[in-house]
Amino acid sequence: MRLICPFNHDWQFAPADACDEQFSIVTLPHTNKLFTRLSVDNADYQFVSTYRKRFTLPESATGKRIFLDFDGAMLVSTVYINGALIGTHKGGFTPFSFDITAFVTAGNNVVTVYVDATEDKSVPPYGGQVDYLTFGGLYREITLRIVDPCHVVSVFPRPLNVLTAPGLEADIRLAQWHRDVRAEVMLTDGAGQVIAVHEQAVPADAFTVTFPALTGIALWLLDQPELYTLTVTLKQGGELLDQVMTRFGFRHAEFCDDGKFYLNGEPLKLFGLNRHQTYPYIGAAAPQRLQALDADILKHELGCNIVRTSHYAQSPHFLNRCDEIGLLVFEELAGWQHIGDAMWKQLALDDLQAMIERDRHHPSIILWGVRINESPDDDDFYQHTNALARALDPTRQTGGVRTFLQSHFLEDVFTLNDFPPGLQTPRVRPHLVTEFVGHMFPTKTWDHEERRIEHALHHARKHSLQFGHADVAGAIGWCAFDYHTHKEFGSGDRICYHGVMDMYRLPKMAAYFYRSQKAPTDEIVLYAATNWTMGDRNGGGNNPLVVFSNCDEIEVWIGEEYQGRFRPDVDHYPHLPHPPFTVRWSEPYNPWGTPFHDLTVRGYLNGTVAAEQKIHAAHVPAALRVLTHTDHLRADGADMARIAVQVIDKYGNVLPYQTRVVRFTLEGDADLIAANPLVLLGGQGACFVRSRRTSSQVVVHVETDDLAPVDVVLQISE
Ligand code: GAL
Repeated sequence: MRLICPFNHDWQFAPADACDEQFSIVTLPHTNKLFTRLSVDNADYQFVSTYRKRFTLPESATGKRIFLDFDGAMLVSTVYINGALIGTHKGGFTPFSFDITAFVTAGNNVVTVYVDATEDKSVPPYGGQVDYLTFGGLYREITLRIVDPCHVVSVFPRPLNVLTAPGLEADIRLAQWHRDVRAEVMLTDGAGQVIAVHEQAVPADAFTVTFPALTGIALWLLDQPELYTLTVTLKQGGELLDQVMTRFGFRHAEFCDDGKFYLNGEPLKLFGLNRHQTYPYIGAAAPQRLQALDADILKHELGCNIVRTSHYAQSPHFLNRCDEIGLLVFEELAGWQHIGDAMWKQLALDDLQAMIERDRHHPSIILWGVRINESPDDDDFYQHTNALARALDPTRQTGGVRTFLQSHFLEDVFTLNDFPPGLQTPRVRPHLVTEFVGHMFPTKTWDHEERRIEHALHHARKHSLQFGHADVAGAIGWCAFDYHTHKEFGSGDRICYHGVMDMYRLPKMAAYFYRSQKAPTDEIVLYAATNWTMGDRNGGGNNPLVVFSNCDEIEVWIGEEYQGRFRPDVDHYPHLPHPPFTVRWSEPYNPWGTPFHDLTVRGYLNGTVAAEQKIHAAHVPAALRVLTHTDHLRADGADMARIAVQVIDKYGNVLPYQTRVVRFTLEGDADLIAANPLVLLGGQGACFVRSRRTSSQVVVHVETDDLAPVDVVLQISE
């Protein structure tokens, strides 16, 4: 039977080839450098790290094959076992594996991995300028896999006729074939109930099992993403040789010639954002809980139905969560504008292959990005990438992100970054917009209010246009979260402020535009996009007042004075599911010298009050709001919680210009990962708490000079 040993603990790490005293003990995921500030100079992570781990094999390993499986390491990894070179892997985003059987002993072993985070021009995404940082280290997990020589290499479940008479085909590949090996293939539902079982002799090292007719199959839907598991068990005589479980879903996803995207036969306008995988302090080394949190934020807080994994394969934890919550994914190979020489292209093809082989069971993934983001046409190369993707996964369509409409159409979906104002008329169908806004309107959480509103409205306008255009399947905005970048980009602090949320994943106004497009049955959203001041806008006052809401009508009061009842602004945003409200006061409008009172906005659904927001005219900071998305962590030395801090008024609105220095004190057995003290930006910020490998109750004290301190309690347990 296979034995999967997590291999994430007790790594000795040194940021260079060092003597024993210079090594520290670390747990994966690990960043080769922890940053204490948001702005990061990429020179600081470009070095060769040494990771070393001693291990012994269990007795049961005798006669087995032994693999080290890396989920991903940045950027070039060279692996030695007991001093013998095993191999080098180039590329930071996809998994790789080494067969170490011939190099390990029954006694003590040591693995050494040199991880070179230098931005090597011969390895994608490098070669040209790249608008994102890659960071460095063993930033994803590693497992030690001990298997029988006859073991399962891959299982690719492919649902059939999902909408008419559901069935299933599964391609199974083995490492070694024996005449007397039998395979049992079992389908179970999310509750573990057996739906179907099939048993047969294994005819060859690659074979396909078919379940032609299945009854009672529940579809993978966005609001009810049913998942199934296919378990492949290999037996020889009475002996169990191997068992592999693959989770997948039954859904039909297709971009059609009529221009629309269909999920399970129903047209669905795609509404989403791009995601980079990097974070403050820890670079790309985010553990499972933070990966899942991003998917949850995109789906539940931002109301997206799709995310693009710009511009590389992202963590399996992120994709697993997308499967679980019903968030569609456009996943693409690593790169940025530049195409290198033949060896570079081969690495890109390898990356594409590894990505598809790793991820083709995910029901959430609906499209493979087979072009280097925004690269020029290269028909020979892109015929290869398309052919490879189609051969590895005939069930999914291909896209390839370009910036120009005349680009040769070799894919199944014409995916275009569409930054100019308006919406470019599709040249072919299906057509999907894969980026917009971004660098056209960078916006910080502490920018002038008019800019923050306009940032949100840029997103609103493009989405209104795409919702109104029958030939556009959807649009994915740039981007979800602010991100670290190279000096050729960003605002002078190596940060692109292109997110609808900041780097901590805390909202800008634009986040509320996205959220307000949710169905009110899902969440009632009412957000007045204003800090309600007399003097922040040019010329003063608050005219017009923009409100993001999915209510049918709103009423507005200033103090006790009723301003009227308003309907969504269909004149400017005619096609959005929930157009913003634009409240305009008639001329002359001159607030100077008039008394200033609280704002009240009330939202109505079907004539009944459904939501209310008040903003305090005095802007007096009333409290620190401290939020955690979890109250427990696993005692695995890797798990992390984000603790968010906001300065709010007495009604709970964030006060974006209230700078505060926040101090965190941590009691209990855990590590604080943050700048400490931390300066809030835009009235908000966050720290991270990472578990150690002991159970503990942890209290995080959050204090400023003037506001009441707040404690957050986390339970850390096995
Ligand atoms: C695009 C690019 C993205 C990002 C964005 C900024 O051209 O694909 O990676 O740089 O611009 O708006």
